[in-house]
Formats: sequence, structure tokens, C-alpha cells
Amino acid sequence: MNHHPIRFDLDYSLAMSETIGARGGLSQRELEAEAERVSDAVSATITRADGGELGFFRSASDRRIVREIEALLPSLPPHREVIVLGIGGSSLGARALIEALRGPHALHEPKEGSPRIHFPDNSDPFVLSALLHRLDPRETLLIAASKSGGTIETAASFLVARDVFRRAIGEKGLRERTLIVTDPQEGALRALAQKEGLRALPIPSNIGGRFSVLTAMGLLPGALLGLDLDSLLDGADWMRKLSETRDIRQNPAALFAALHHLHHTRHGRPIHVLMPYADALRPFAAWFVQLWAESLGKRRGRGGEALEIGPTPLPAVGATDQHAQVQLFMEGPRDKLITFVEVEAPSQDLVVPREEGAFEYLAGLGMKEILDAERKGTSLALASDGRPNLTVRVSRLDEVHLGALFFFFEAATAFAGELYGIDAFDQPGVEKGKRLASAILGRPGFDEERGEIQAMEGRSNQTHALRFIRA
Ligand code: PA5
Repeated sequence: MNHHPIRFDLDYSLAMSETIGARGGLSQRELEAEAERVSDAVSATITRADGGELGFFRSASDRRIVREIEALLPSLPPHREVIVLGIGGSSLGARALIEALRGPHALHEPKEGSPRIHFPDNSDPFVLSALLHRLDPRETLLIAASKSGGTIETAASFLVARDVFRRAIGEKGLRERTLIVTDPQEGALRALAQKEGLRALPIPSNIGGRFSVLTAMGLLPGALLGLDLDSLLDGADWMRKLSETRDIRQNPAALFAALHHLHHTRHGRPIHVLMPYADALRPFAAWFVQLWAESLGKRRGRGGEALEIGPTPLPAVGATDQHAQVQLFMEGPRDKLITFVEVEAPSQDLVVPREEGAFEYLAGLGMKEILDAERKGTSLALASDGRPNLTVRVSRLDEVHLGALFFFFEAATAFAGELYGIDAFDQPGVEKGKRLASAILGRPGFDEERGEIQAMEGRSNQTHALRFIRA
């Protein structure tokens, strides 16, 4: 196994009152007073992991899935395109992983041995129909990714795509070009895979969708794009070791959780912005938003008590959002804690050429240098007005650092769940909408929900709706 150096900083000075003043900062004393609770949050998470409840916590040290994927690759038919059908945690993580390391989707060039990958994650037929129209099934792989194996959106897209493939390349071709990623035993996708003899990779049953990026959910697409899976998991495992430390000063994920929890619950800052200064990390910010929101927004506490609590995560990207959201961050309500993500080494750079009489102060500067100045300027401007922010800094964007970043935010979410007193690993609020949608679609077994819908519609009956028509 190769040993790649890692550097990861969590710079939180501009979130502390000693630096930015008491109006926006947290005092060192306040943070220290929290140390024991944070340590308990780490212990509680580890106890749940040891009890087999939180599979994500130790999964990076188990490499059997990597070997399984490596063994699978040579048996796949030739392919220049890959379609991943999944939604939520079954799409966002893989996309964040691929785009961070292979660049934004639009730039992917299919070349020998490296296909182009697509994540049509919505039931809006716009993207999927364009893809199915454009791609040739004879050179495409179809991945159906769903932990539960029963998600309506994924099931519908999969059935549509299967039909198109079947017509183009027949039942045998479809079977050869289909891969399933799902629960090892449960669910309709697993049953279909067994019935039809489809190739299927497991997601451990104790790992939920939004914590699954480092399972086959992210690893299979990653392997197809030629990523170094062992390095990715090494980075995660390195961060896992740090995350087991009870001392808040040695455990960056616990510190991140504590800072956010305190800024929210004691200082009225429920809006948590993640703002990488890197286009390649745009989907990473979207992945974080799902992780933080779906894990921490809960009606009830662990003991069933009414809470209705949770931070609101917000994605942004620098420098683009300096021209969109930063005005609000600088002068709007003081309800935000902003995390910048800095990647030190640029994957590539462009030098601004000298042009007589035009922007001469920029001549000879690298565009990355300009981006860094924008980030630093924004961070300091916020701090100068007592608006707290922190910076997560990695030396480069490669597999090992990305693995560390994924695990850092996953562990921070687990610890934050403990601090908020909620269960970060369920999503009862999503279930209700899914049940009502099933009822609307006429799925058998949802009569009670159908009754509920009728009662609600009877009450509303469009009494407060406006309609405008021009014939
Ligand atoms: O994190 C979660 O549990 C959800 O966001 C799921 O990932 C999402 O609902 C998709 O579910 P599934 O993977 O079961 O299709």
C-alpha cells in the first residue's frame, strides 16, 4: 500500500471572540466548558459504531469491497459512458467524489479506459431523456444505486432506461450492462438482481444513504473512472483515527461539530455555509448540505422529546458567490457560520498575460493566486465585522485528501447529532412525503395516506390559489 502524505488544517481563529470580538465569536472559555460534552459525544458515537449500529465509522479499514470491485472490472463489457441512477445519498456522494478528482462533468472527455459518467438523479425527465436519446446502449453501463432498493424516483428511471436498453441490445445485452448497488439482502433491487442474475454490489446494512460515499456507492463509479480507491480509504481511515480522540483539540471533526453547535444554540447562528474555493468541490458542498440537513433536522430528540431542531446548511462556491451571496453574508442577519474550504495546490493554473494599458496590476499573476486573494479578502472582511468563519485547508485535492474530507464531515455530523441530542441516522421527515407520493401514485397498501390526502385537499380546495390565463 502506498503511503501518501496528508495535510489537513482546521483554522477556527476567525470564529473566536479573542480574534473577532464577542459580538460574533465564541470564547475559548465557552469552548473549553464544552469539552466534556464533546468528549461524551465522541464516546457515544464510538459505542454505537462498536455495537455495529454505525457501519460508516470503521468501513474504510475493511478493503474487501475494493477487492470485489477490482475483480469485477475486467468482466465488464467495453463502455465509454456510465449512467448512475440514484438519488440523495445514492448519487450526491459519488458525484462529489468524481467531480472533485476528475473535474466538472461537462469537461469529462471519454478516452481510452476512462468513460464519461452521468448522474441523472431526478424524476424530471429532462436530463434522462436527453441522455437516453444521445447515448448508445452498446457502449454504456447502467448502474442502479439505491440502498433501500425501493426508492420511487430511482425505480422509475431504471425501468425507463431498461426498456430503452432492452429494445436496443436485447435482454442479454441489458443484463451484461447492468450493475446494481444496494442492500446485501433486502429490497426490490436485490430481489431483481437475484431473479435475473444481475451483478450486484452490497452496501452494508448498517450504512445509510448519506453516509455511503465510501462504500460501493462511491467506490464503484470511482473505480470505473480509474480512481485510487485504497488511497481514498486510507485518507478516510487516517481521519477516522483522529476522530476517535476524545480531546477536542486533537479531533478536528469533534471541534467542527462543537463550534457549529455552540454558534447555533448559544449565539443564534443556525445557518451553516460551506463555501469551497474550488469548482471541483461544488458537488461536494451539495453532498455536505444533504448530510448536514437530513441528519440534523429533527422533530424529536433521542428520548422522543419534542425539539424541532436543526441547522440550515447552505452551499456556496468562491469566488463565484462573492458576486451572489456574500453581500447577504456581510450585511444581512448575523445568523451564519461560514466554512471556507481551501485547496492549496492548484490542479492547474493560468498566468494572466501583460497587456499594455489594461489591468496591468494583474499581469503575471496566477489565477489561483487571485482566487486565494479573493478567499482571504472575504474571510477577513467578514471577520472585521465580527462575522465568524473558519477554514478547512488541504494541501491538494487527491484521493487521500478527499477521503479525509469525506470522513471529516461524516464524523462531524455524527458528533453534532449527539450534541443536538437527536438521531443523525434516521430521516422520518422524508418518509412521510414518500408515503404520500406512493398513495398519490396508487401504490397498494397506502389507503390510510390516501384518506389523509383527501381530507387535506378537502380543507384547502384551492381557496387560496391564484390563476392567470391569457388565451
Ligand atoms: O441519506 C439517505 O438515507 C437518503 O438521502 C437516501 O440516500 C435517498 O433517499 C435515496 O435512498 P435509497 O438509497 O434507498 O434509494
